[in-house]
Amino acid sequence: MPCPTRSDELVFFVNGRKVIERNADPEVTLLNFLRKNLRLTGTKYACGRGGCGACTVMVSRHDPASKKIRHFSVTACLVPICSLYGAAVTTVEGVGSIKTRIHPVQERIAKSHGTQCGFCTPGMVMSMYTLLRNHPEPSEEQLMEALGGNLCRCTGYRPILASGRTFCVESNGCQQKGTGKCCLDQGDSDSSSLGRKSEMCTELFVKEEFQPLDPTQELIFPPELVRMAENPEKHTLTFHGDRVTWISPGTLKDLLELKVKYPEAPLILGNTTLGPAMKSQGHFHPILLSPVRISELCVVSETSAGLTIGAGCSLAQVKDILAETVSKLPEEKTQTYRALLKHLKSLGGQQIRNMASLGGHVISQHCYSDLNPILAVGNTTLNLISEEGMRQIPLNEHFLAGSASAALKPEEILESVHIPHSHKWEFVSAFRQAECRQNALPDVNAGMRVLFEEGTDTIVDLSLAYGGVGAVRNSTHQSCQRLLGRRWNELMLDEACRLLLEEVSLPGSALGGRVEFKRTLVVSFFFKFYLEVLQELKKLLKLFPDSCHYPEIPDRFLSALEDFPVTVSQGVQTYQSVDSHQPLQDPVGRPIMHLSGLKHATGEAIFCDDIPVVDKELVMALVTSTRAHAKIISIDSSEALELPGVVDVITAEDIPGTNGTEDDILLAVDEVLCVGQLICAVVAETEVQVKQAVEKIMITYEDLEPVIFSIEDAIKHNSFLCPEKKLEQGNIEEAFQKVDQIVEGEVHVGGQEHFYMETQRVLVIPKIEDKELDIYVSTQDPAHVQKTVSSTLSIPINRITCHVKRVGGGFGGKVGRPAIFGAIAAVGAMKTGCPIRLVLDREDDMLITGGRHPLFGKYKVGFMNNGRIKALDIQCYVNGGCMLDDSELVTEFLILKLENAYKIRNLRFRGRACRTNLPSNTAFRGFGFPQGVLVTESCITTVAAKCGLPPEKIREKNMYKTVDKTIYKQAFSPETLISCWKECLDKSSFHSRRLQVEEFNKKNYWKKKGIAIIPMKFSVGFAATSYHQAAALVHIYTDGSVLVTHGGNELGQGIHTKMVQVASRELKIPMSYVHVCETSTRTVPNTIATAASIGSDVNGRAVQNACQILLKRLEPIMKKNPEGTWEDWIEAAFEQRISLSATGYFRGYKAYMDWEKGEGDPFPYYVYGAACSEVEIDCLTGAHKKIRTDIVMDACYSLNPAIDIGQIEGAFIQGMGLYTTEELKYSPEGVLYSRGPDEYKIPTITDIPEEFNVSLLSASQTPLTIYSSKGLGESGMFLGSSVFFAIADAVATACRERDIVKDFTVRSPATSEWVRMACADRFTEMGNSITERLQLLFSLAEGEKKQTLVAILLIFTLAE
Ligand SMILES: Cc1cc2nc3c(=O)[nH]c(=O)nc-3n(C[C@H](O)[C@H](O)[C@H](O)COP(=O)(O)OP(=O)(O)OC[C@H]3O[C@@H](n4cnc5c(N)ncnc54)[C@H](O)[C@@H]3O)c2cc1C
Ligand code: FES
Ligand code: FES
Repeated sequence: MPCPTRSDELVFFVNGRKVIERNADPEVTLLNFLRKNLRLTGTKYACGRGGCGACTVMVSRHDPASKKIRHFSVTACLVPICSLYGAAVTTVEGVGSIKTRIHPVQERIAKSHGTQCGFCTPGMVMSMYTLLRNHPEPSEEQLMEALGGNLCRCTGYRPILASGRTFCVESNGCQQKGTGKCCLDQGDSDSSSLGRKSEMCTELFVKEEFQPLDPTQELIFPPELVRMAENPEKHTLTFHGDRVTWISPGTLKDLLELKVKYPEAPLILGNTTLGPAMKSQGHFHPILLSPVRISELCVVSETSAGLTIGAGCSLAQVKDILAETVSKLPEEKTQTYRALLKHLKSLGGQQIRNMASLGGHVISQHCYSDLNPILAVGNTTLNLISEEGMRQIPLNEHFLAGSASAALKPEEILESVHIPHSHKWEFVSAFRQAECRQNALPDVNAGMRVLFEEGTDTIVDLSLAYGGVGAVRNSTHQSCQRLLGRRWNELMLDEACRLLLEEVSLPGSALGGRVEFKRTLVVSFFFKFYLEVLQELKKLLKLFPDSCHYPEIPDRFLSALEDFPVTVSQGVQTYQSVDSHQPLQDPVGRPIMHLSGLKHATGEAIFCDDIPVVDKELVMALVTSTRAHAKIISIDSSEALELPGVVDVITAEDIPGTNGTEDDILLAVDEVLCVGQLICAVVAETEVQVKQAVEKIMITYEDLEPVIFSIEDAIKHNSFLCPEKKLEQGNIEEAFQKVDQIVEGEVHVGGQEHFYMETQRVLVIPKIEDKELDIYVSTQDPAHVQKTVSSTLSIPINRITCHVKRVGGGFGGKVGRPAIFGAIAAVGAMKTGCPIRLVLDREDDMLITGGRHPLFGKYKVGFMNNGRIKALDIQCYVNGGCMLDDSELVTEFLILKLENAYKIRNLRFRGRACRTNLPSNTAFRGFGFPQGVLVTESCITTVAAKCGLPPEKIREKNMYKTVDKTIYKQAFSPETLISCWKECLDKSSFHSRRLQVEEFNKKNYWKKKGIAIIPMKFSVGFAATSYHQAAALVHIYTDGSVLVTHGGNELGQGIHTKMVQVASRELKIPMSYVHVCETSTRTVPNTIATAASIGSDVNGRAVQNACQILLKRLEPIMKKNPEGTWEDWIEAAFEQRISLSATGYFRGYKAYMDWEKGEGDPFPYYVYGAACSEVEIDCLTGAHKKIRTDIVMDACYSLNPAIDIGQIEGAFIQGMGLYTTEELKYSPEGVLYSRGPDEYKIPTITDIPEEFNVSLLSASQTPLTIYSSKGLGESGMFLGSSVFFAIADAVATACRERDIVKDFTVRSPATSEWVRMACADRFTEMGNSITERLQLLFSLAEGEKKQTLVAILLIFTLAE
């Protein structure tokens, strides 16, 4: 059939408005279209691969068959606009706005404090909104499912869930499991009015204030689209783009004809396979065939033999179909469906399940596919259709292995999938292990089916299929065949495991990787299947008196059968209410909503890349090194420059001033030091052009030696960034002579990616006059950007203005790095004379920017048999990457903070930053503390193990008890530390729960619980006096409104909200009178980075100072007219020529540290805290669930308990990620593999503790800070280690039971791989074959030896 040369009109609706695109480009995604064409910037870009949910919008379609409208959430970054023909799209702007009416979803997420930086919030709102459009009173399970595909890096999810739960049927006011009574309703709390009457409060928002949800208020589905759906166009729609043509036939016949004409053209359904492959792997398809209008692909039918589901059905629809079938058919017939349902709950997030089609899933043949192994064992057939007719092929191992004889012909398409019912005496199960419970690709998964001869336990058919174990799915055919006729008993189990390990081989690419883990999972899953079937079989065989008799499965083993269910987190947040005499107008100490909360929720909050395109604006993209250590021979940009729209290529030669510093070069000149180092930048007219041009820059290199990646290698090569930092007290050598025991051990802590949701971005606008530049940048330190741009361009600082409205998460990653991007963009802007926008892709951001320093610590600890530690010697090395950045400071901080809460008389702490050929690591929340103190706490657990005492006893015994001096001789009182510890023990009922954990562990072999409580002494601030200062500028205008400007940046931590609270208290006016517009180097110069937890402390004092100056000026007027209003006084002041503008200044703490003497006064104060966590691990898979966490934190007099609790929770969950799931993976050549949310797992909503309680210790005093509050931005991070130590506790119990001698090497993160392999058993031993020993050799060998070993390994693997 002919393909028209002219494009058809693409018609769809956005927020009730009709969109007609006459030249729709198939390569344009809905996200880009919304942001660039419609200027709807509420929908955010954060990953571009469907993995984070920041771009979630709702799509609605009318189904003419059912006459119903289907609403579903999608990730706009994977939706090509051409797929939207006839659809209605709702974005966050269409849900509600501050200007018109905010929607209850938006109101509640903001008022429940579910937004911090607000970058994830529109996506969260859209997921929740879509849920409510389909289920106005959802269950909590539905809420979790709806939010499972949305990541938030700031809040820790608890408040987001709290807002969602207010819509749920089960929800009740106090968030306590339907008791109808608040757990703290014991006379001491008052929930009716925030912060009045009583001492402690447990409510952070007033639910009664919320508007009710009124579904009748929603946008109606456009009648025009109903008409279009009822009378569908039959002709083929064609959309021609620059490079790609989209063809959407109206009939199956036309589709089949097109498939003959374009056999290579893929069918595009959900685009969840094609999209990421085109974006990240360079796949290109000039023709795309869209079968979205072919109703035959969505037909579902059921016969007595089974279900046939159209290939075009989405996975979410498949889930509903299966759920309905399961509810009406007897259990024996639905075994396969149940297994599929189990995996459909955790496959991707809700948005992916809504988009991805069954056909796309089957045909994609991903090695990790969750459904294909189950479909394969379930004897599924694929119904194929082509112009030649129909045929069936089995979805079997040959199909999955991609063998040509079992595959579709190019002109064929998959019409439907037939899944037969299961039968009596047949059992089907599914297994899956992934790093997170939802929205994470599986490490290994499996589908298993067995059929018995009726009335017996004799196997007549057995089918096992695994995913995730190799590039193509492995066959288990021979193993299964050899087990036919065998009885279902232990002998069969042993034999099956042996056969499976022989047959399921892992590819060579897994070398040095997770081979043993995966092999172990292969047999562990089979063991689970064995037990599951055994249990069911016993029930059936009881009905056959003559059949064999099975011994009962011991109760201790039954726990192997249970999966950890996804539960909705509960919890209580406790804080001290304000004094009952505090005026109502005074907001300090009250849980005030983040001032941008509603704007975040409606998408009206403007982030850097939401600023509209300015005249003549150009786009910049960066070219990075592909070599770890090499000489640059040449940079050839000629081909790139010839491409249409390409304006320039910026290299180091274009820099008029300095090219960074010796330790932090902006653009590489002769040599590159890591993969990802910046070499040059391309400037073009559009994003598409600039990306194409980047690909055309040719760089030739000559590799250099040495290439160092690991800390161990750096030590070997004596490769360091700075001299050793050392602190010492007492006489360590002498002390080691006198102790009862000495233990030495090692601790490895992996790095961490910031994963701020808003990637690095900057917009530089050159002015016509005087070389002035306006820079809009997402940074924690605009003054640093300003200074760097000044020296790069060689123009005075006063010509450059940096503006920061808000930052979509920083966590330290936007302290130093934005200056580099700002400076390169500024060079481009100066050279071209045009504004330059630079927005980093997630992949580039992760590749280039570095993160938390990985750490290797060695310790030697001397102690008495009663657990008293007498001597501790710790030597730490951090991996600083290729440039200095903050590595020296990080090393200093970690040495200063290493003692944590413990008084040990004889100490020696040493630290060094290693220079390696990895991207430079930088500041990250906690600044070395979370890594370093893990070493100290590991020593404690080691001592406990050696003394046979619980770790908490050792902690208590060695903790500071009275006023004392730290290792650097700074005096402090540990009173609050002890209060936090005791209160945490008490609130968590630690001791009784420890006994319960022990009881549980005695009764369960395959599941173990662990519990740990960790104390914390965290010093805030920078160890340098110049950093302890701040300024503010406060203007009062003649209408009485007040504009506050200060040096802090809004990163989501609510600093502007707190500053408005301060101004409101000082000026005694309502908060509504006060406004903060932005942070700008023009209004407040020479600012300090918003970091080290002291942003609110120092800026609060500066704002206070400015307000007090103004108030003093106003006092005579106020005295003269005491009955006057604020407005009267301001008017009078203006009349009397009194200045209504004042600069406030805070000359802060005098910090110093003398490293020569090893003493100083580096920190203004400490934040104390304690956290107790309980977990349960699955020894067979390595999975864990967090049962409960209790945090007690000393916030002194919190300025805003809602914000402070939010900081604690968010930091805790980020810390939990560091210590459990977040793992950076590199290739042997130093290329970062983990460059997106699919490979790098930050915690999702399903990963937070099932019970999560936070309480702020009732007030203590700290005179140095604003109103005696404390900075809580970072400290919660380390408390996440309580989860790590709880996991370690559970693993230690398992090891003791299995008589495994534990060595003293600690590794963080405690991934499922680590947990599984540590809980060694017969299955790990089976997996741990000769292959493993050879791999160990492989990892140690170099050069030629390595190649020989690969050959030997291959032979062994084949032989095995
Ligand atoms: C963020 C994210 C998370 C994910 N998580 C998981 C997970 O946890 N577990 C898991 O198993 N998978 C996961 N996936 C993969 C996902 O399940 C598949 O990408 C999806 O099922 C593919 O379906 P689609 O409709 O989007 O296919 P498309 O991308 O539209 O098409 C994929 C391929 O299928 C072919 N095709 C589609 N339909 C037909 C047909 N009817 N006949 C012939 N060929 C056809 C196309 O030609 C194309 O080559 C994830 C994907 C993403 C993006
Ligand atoms: S930006 Fe679309 S899912 Fe992340
Ligand atoms: S508030 Fe969720 S990412 Fe910042």
